[in-house]
Amino acid sequence: MIVLSVESSCDETSVSISRDGKEILSNVVLSQIDVHKTYGGVVPEIASREHVKGITMVFEEAMEKANISIKDIDLVSVTKGPGLIGSLLIGVNAAKAFAYANEIPIVGVHHIAGHIYANHITKDLAFPLVCLVVSGGHTELILMKEHYDFQKLGETYDDAVGEAYDKVARTVGLGYPGGPIVDRLAHKGEATYPMPNIDQKETYDFSFSGLKSHIINLVHNIKQRNEILNVENLCASFQEVVTDVLVSKSLKAIEEYDAKMFIVAGGVAANKGLRTKISQNIKNVDVVVPKFEYCTDNAAMIGVAGYFQYKKLQKTDDMTLNAFSRMKLTE
Ligand code: KG4
Ligand code: ZN
Repeated sequence: MIVLSVESSCDETSVSISRDGKEILSNVVLSQIDVHKTYGGVVPEIASREHVKGITMVFEEAMEKANISIKDIDLVSVTKGPGLIGSLLIGVNAAKAFAYANEIPIVGVHHIAGHIYANHITKDLAFPLVCLVVSGGHTELILMKEHYDFQKLGETYDDAVGEAYDKVARTVGLGYPGGPIVDRLAHKGEATYPMPNIDQKETYDFSFSGLKSHIINLVHNIKQRNEILNVENLCASFQEVVTDVLVSKSLKAIEEYDAKMFIVAGGVAANKGLRTKISQNIKNVDVVVPKFEYCTDNAAMIGVAGYFQYKKLQKTDDMTLNAFSRMKLTE
């Protein structure tokens, strides 16, 4: 089964061609990072306009790279939410137009299901599994007992991990997106700054806003006292507490649900500190992390998720398929 998939939920315009939810024949990602950098974050209206400008070209390039013709495509899969509504609508409408014009069935998929299924490209998922979702908009622990069956064990009360990374980066003037920069600097520093305890005790829930406020105050006080801020040590201190809590909650869930596999999903899965801590601490279970290129937003993961959603539900969408800025993983 050949799937053409489309992702446009935030600031990446992406189209991919994949086979049987496993083999990626092409995955073209047009990033808008340079456009949004000037503003220190994604500007929704600009993002929508950039998607309009790029989407046709990205479709063509993905088809060309995969070296297939339209008649080979069996299914169209597109991110229907959650995300920026204007951005999502460009991808959903482009996918619908393509599916309608070529009489190909279409499915709308959840963006986080895509991030989760990015792991399947590396290794076939085995159940039960525990998934740590860490992106710019989500931080959740998910239990999967079979394909396309998602049970939320816990989530963040406030900021998502990626969001916290980006805010810390902005506080010390490191540019956008801040996550990869903080990660890089953390490796050059030592965790010398005291950080608050952010463990939400017995639950699988997370909270990062207190940590963020602590860092803002810390930086402010250092500046007021005319002291020198060691940015590398600050990044290392922040990364240490964040990765500690992510790994300890994951371990707890793996043990409680007797998981066979542990996977990580979302942009922060690219974090080297997190990857290292996972490989050092999570043993006796199959650990899978997506390849770097499939960690941040891309259409390949939406193709894999769409394939498994279709296989499981045996259901396609019609031309009333819409985009949703907010939606639950199980919708
Ligand atoms: O999953 P994603 O591409 O978009 C959402 O669905 O939200 O994640 C983007 C987030 C951004 O907040 C970015 O700073 C973060 O992932 N990120 C990282 C790293 N690479 C990307 N955070 C920490 N360390 C990284 N290496
Ligand atoms: Zn994402």
